[in-house]
Amino acid sequence: MMGDVTAFAPATVANLGLGFDVLGLALAGIGDTVTARLAPGTGVRMVRITGDNGALPMEAERNTAGIAAIATLRKADVRVGVELELMKGLPLGSGLGSSAASAAAAAFAVNLLVGSPLRKADLILPCVEAEEAVSGRHADNAAPALLGGLVLVRSVDPLDVVRLPVPEGLTLAVVTPVFELATRKSRAVLPKEVPLTSHVSNTANLAALVSAFYSNDLALLARCLPDAIVTPARAGLIPGCMDVIDSALEAGALASSISGSGPSMFAFCRSVRSASDVGMAMVAAFQRAGLEASAVISAGDCPGVRRV
Ligand code: HSE
Repeated sequence: MMGDVTAFAPATVANLGLGFDVLGLALAGIGDTVTARLAPGTGVRMVRITGDNGALPMEAERNTAGIAAIATLRKADVRVGVELELMKGLPLGSGLGSSAASAAAAAFAVNLLVGSPLRKADLILPCVEAEEAVSGRHADNAAPALLGGLVLVRSVDPLDVVRLPVPEGLTLAVVTPVFELATRKSRAVLPKEVPLTSHVSNTANLAALVSAFYSNDLALLARCLPDAIVTPARAGLIPGCMDVIDSALEAGALASSISGSGPSMFAFCRSVRSASDVGMAMVAAFQRAGLEASAVISAGDCPGVRRV
């Protein structure tokens, strides 16, 4: 066992438009950091949280980093005392997988701390347990935050995830407005039943999107993001949502939609240069809706959680 371990887990874009709860992709650069340290006794204690403006609970049982750490130790069947320090790099309620990033960094750090009894993929369910406690039982942020790249969650119970290839050069512009939207709230507006026509349209688009990822067919990818079910239900929760999408497309994006449960929005672009133009157009659209916003440009295929 080690004395202490620090791990970083990236932000993630879940859903990717129409893959509600089944698609997620890791971003570059931004994320949360957790230090795990062995401590006397048994159990997990949060000793410090920074970067959250005091918004997150210090009780390990109520914090996604703490819940994931507890679940990881339980799964590994290891009884030790652990102290956690969480450094939030991601804004809360932003649609960037903030709760999953904290959980993934904590699960990974704790697993390393106790000698790596579990594989990265074994840490997904402990992180899903944490997600369930704060928003809902979904793995489309936790899986890419841990594994990196683009991940398809075929099933959570039992867990079955598939890594998908990312077309060469595919770049994302991700724009985050200064506006908090709790995942729980944006899940509450979703319909419980969907018309068969919407199901058919989404199934066709999701299948074609996966095909586009495998075949590097960006023209096909550009046609696949329309979502007949989740995006229309959530658009009204995000000021400027449709204008942000239209502005991204006008600025040259392949496709654009809500990132996770919002309010962040993302666009798929052909290059870093295009993504810079698109990001600026999306920021301007949010400003027209009265919200300040900032853009991040990221490669499409980025690493997941790692030791730092
Ligand atoms: N798939 C989840 C949702 C992601 O859209 O509610 C939450 O970040």
